[in-house]
Order: sequence, then C-alpha cells, then structure tokens
Amino acid sequence: MSAFKLYVPGDAAAVALGADRVAKAFEKAFAEKGMDVEIVRNGSRGMHWLEPLVEAVTPQGRVGYGPVKAKHVAGLIDAGLFEGGEHELRLGDVEKIPFFARQQRFTFARVGLVDPASLEDYVAHDGYKGLKRAVELGGPATVEEVFESGLRGRGGAGFPTGIKWRTVAQCPPGQKYIVCNADEGDSGTFADRMIMEGDPFTLIEGMTIAGLAVGATKGYVYCRSEYPHAIKAMNVAIKAARKAGYLGKQIAGSDYDFDMEVREGAGAYVCGEETSLLESIEGKRGLVRAKPPLPAHKGLFGKPTVINNVISLCSVPFILANGAKAYADVGFGRSRGTMPIQLAGNVKYGGLYEIAFGVTLRELVEDVAGGTFTGKPIRACQVGGPLGAYLPEHQFDTPFDYEAFTKIDALIGHGGVVIFDEDVDMARMARFAMEFCAVESCGKCTPCRIGSTRGVETLDKVIANKDRERNLQVVEDLCHTMKLGSLCALGGFTPYPVLSAIKHFPEDFGRGHLSVAAE
Ligand SMILES: Cc1cc2nc3c(=O)[nH]c(=O)nc-3n(C[C@H](O)[C@H](O)[C@H](O)COP(=O)(O)O)c2cc1C
Ligand code: SF4
Repeated sequence: MSAFKLYVPGDAAAVALGADRVAKAFEKAFAEKGMDVEIVRNGSRGMHWLEPLVEAVTPQGRVGYGPVKAKHVAGLIDAGLFEGGEHELRLGDVEKIPFFARQQRFTFARVGLVDPASLEDYVAHDGYKGLKRAVELGGPATVEEVFESGLRGRGGAGFPTGIKWRTVAQCPPGQKYIVCNADEGDSGTFADRMIMEGDPFTLIEGMTIAGLAVGATKGYVYCRSEYPHAIKAMNVAIKAARKAGYLGKQIAGSDYDFDMEVREGAGAYVCGEETSLLESIEGKRGLVRAKPPLPAHKGLFGKPTVINNVISLCSVPFILANGAKAYADVGFGRSRGTMPIQLAGNVKYGGLYEIAFGVTLRELVEDVAGGTFTGKPIRACQVGGPLGAYLPEHQFDTPFDYEAFTKIDALIGHGGVVIFDEDVDMARMARFAMEFCAVESCGKCTPCRIGSTRGVETLDKVIANKDRERNLQVVEDLCHTMKLGSLCALGGFTPYPVLSAIKHFPEDFGRGHLSVAAE
C-alpha cells in the first residue's frame, strides 16, 4: 500500500478538460520527489465547472482541489495537499459543496467515490448487496420488488420497469436476453456515460439481477461508439466480475448463470430506439421494427428480451439492497425515486444532479445551475433531448414528473436540461429539430422521412419571411401528420420542439406574442 492516495478523475469530461495531463504531471512530480503515491482514476463528482477536480486523502478525510491544471501541480504539492493544505484551488470536502450536498444520490452514490476498476472497492461500498438479496428472494419476488419500487424507464418513455420484467418472466422458459440501451443519443445528456465510466459494476449488478429475475442468461450493453472511455471501463469491470465469479456459471455461488458483453453502437441516433437497436446488435442496418410483437415477447434474435436504459438498470441494485419502499418513499405522484438530471447548454454550473422527482425546473435552472454562463436571462430550456419541447419561463414551475410534463406537451426523457439565454433564435431551433429528424430518420415511414425534409424547407421560407403565415400553417399541419402518422417517436415527437417554439416564442416566427393568460 502506498503512503498517500490521490484521486484524479478519468471521466471523459474531466479528460477533455486536461485530467490526463494533470495525472501525468502529478506522477512525474511525485517520482522526482521520491513520494510514494497511489493515483486512482475515479469517476467525476458531476460538478463539471470544477473539473479536473482532484481529491487528496488526508488524515481529516478527502480534500478536493479544482479546477486543476498541470501548471498547478508543483504548488499543490508545496502547499501540502495530503494534509489538506491551503491553496487558491482548495475546495475542502467536496460533498459539502452545495451543488453536491443538496442531492439525493441513490443511483450515483458511488460515482466519484470509488475506483471504477476495483471490484474490491465496489464490494466495500455496498456493492453486490442487491444481488445477494435477489438470490435470496428468487426470480418472481425480485420482479415484484422492482414493480413495487415504482421504477419507470429512464430511457425516455417512463414505462414501468416491473411490468416489462414481468412480461419477459412470464414467457416460457428458454433463451432470453437482457439488453442495456447505452446509446445515449439525446443532446445534453451524459448520465449513462458517467455511471459506466465511474461505477461500471453497478450496471453489471443491475443486469445480473435482471437476468436472474426473468430467467435470462445472457446480456448485451449496446454502447455508443463515441464513448471509448465507457466501453473500456465496462470491459475492465466485466473481466474482473467474471474472474471473481460474479459473471458466468453459478454466479456468486448461486444456481443462476449470467454473462454479458459490450457491443459498440453503429453511430445513428435512431439506433437508440429499442427495435432498431436490436436490429443493429443482430448485425443489420438500424431500421425500426413495427410493433407488435413487443421486444418482451420477440426481441433479440426473436427471443423474449428485456431492454432497459443504463440508469433504469443501475437503479435496481439500490432497490434490491434497500428494499422497494426506500425507493418508492421519495418522488412525486407516479414518478417514484430519483432522477439523475443533467444540466447543460449555456449554464453557469453544469453537471449531474441526482434528486427526487418533484423538483421544479426553476429550482434546477435558476438556483442549482445558477442561470446562464453568459449571465444573460434564461429564455428557454429544452428538456428531454432533441425530441423534447422548448419551455418558456412561465412554465419553469412545472415539477419534474412524467405526468406534469405530459400535461404541458413536454417530456422528461432521459433527464437532460439544455439552457438557452435571450440571444437564442427559436425559429432556427425549430428548423434544427426538423433538420435533426431529416438527418437521423431511418427512412422506414413517409411522414418522418419526407415530412422532416419538407419541414426544413418550409421553415426556411418562414425564416426568409416568404409568405410567413401561410407557411407556418403548413408547418403546423405537417407536424400534425408526423405526430399521428410516424411509426416511432423520432418522427412522432419531432413536432414537440417545433410546435412549442412556435407557440411560446411566436415573435421569432413573425407572429404577435400571445399573452400567457390567453393560452
Ligand atoms: C429515436 C429514439 C432514440 C432513442 N434513444 C434512446 C437512447 O439513446 N437510450 C435509451 O435508453 N433509450 C432511447 N430510446 C428509448 C428506447 O426506445 C426504449 O424506450 C428504452 O431503451 C427502454 O428502456 P427503459 O424502459 O429503461 O427506458 C430512444 C427512442 C427513440 C424513438
Ligand atoms: S418515424 Fe422516422 S425513424 Fe421512426 S420508423 Fe419512421 S422513418 Fe424510421
């Protein structure tokens, strides 16, 4: 064991901000000074404006410093960082920073705290307690536990996870699969990446529990190819879990078998749509399948398949370890538990904020995120990725809750919040939504394939002030057709950002401003 320990995040966001250079500079400086220091490449604590945020283990606990650059390294060592020495970058106990202290970290409890490559560290921080309980409960009771927790899918649709698992469990015994959707294509989202890089064993445990619950022996993580750090972290963890008997035959000494592997995504947004994803794993082009049959009945290679988002599956170990009630006790209405919300765009304090459902958008963007990076007033927020509505200020008191968002024609999706200041041109954002759909459409159905292209052309006319009102009515009519006639949510939900932009920001489209009271 080394005399000292230093945590330098290996998370892709921290690396993008220079964490690798900082780690190398520390390594070199320690070697020159003959200091015996273990450098752990941990996940990010989720406060991106402080990255690279390093933490030194001191006699008083972990002390953070950030944002650190390679040029600060010598000064930090001279300041005595392993005694928590004073320095202009000293943050103290990072868990006491208000952005962190106010969170309810159920799913992200270990991210940033543990060494993502160490199974021993995972187990020392309550890892595999959920699997142990699932083995004791057996398959059917494990499914019911997840149902009772109220967990809903975090990939976008908010479908109850327990019902999905029940459907697969009730299929006749035989080959079944667990597929983890780690395609994370939504703009402004990074929760899946952060947990795979910072705490990969949680996903392995969640998938193993899912396998045990429904009688599946094989799992796939479909991870977007743009996430090389996550793919590497998952592969390292899978190997370690297999070596220790947590994957393979008779996992953790039980009668259950389960193994898994990572598949690299094909680089299309639509490959995050569950049936298109299954096609892609099967080696085919990512084309959406018509439903029914549901993947739960006829999924991967025609077999019953649970397909869940990374965060849905990573919520399961907590639920099993602490009981369904502990999870269901927090939340709002039918939205139970916590949501890892991702604050991005033109934002002062961006990052990952896990909190119980019910928090309002205003608390999030004005208080937690501290408003915009530019310091100008917030004009709009897009919640739920490229298919989510643009919300104006008068809707910021909406609580984070699936039903409350549906009521205002919006969606929570994967929990991404992208903030825009007063300089945003909402007509250009509406055009972007249509263009995104045109570029990413799988091409299977006409309203989406043709409609999105016509949408871009017509919005171009609106922007160029050509017969504006008539063309806006064509856009609205087109949106109606896309909503009702598209096979999947790519074409079906693109109208939401477009119509919300027209409705809430009419002045950007050459229409008079509607008063809030008139809506
Ligand atoms: C165009 C499109 C893209 C999607 N992309 C993702 C994605 O990147 N990740 C994800 O988990 N779900 C995505 N979904 C939702 C999935 O189809 C599916 O609902 C989800 O994987 C189910 O898991 P859950 O119940 O745990 O949310 C997408 C859906 C559509 C229509
Ligand atoms: S809506 Fe678009 S992405 Fe979905 S099936 Fe139709 S063409 Fe493909």
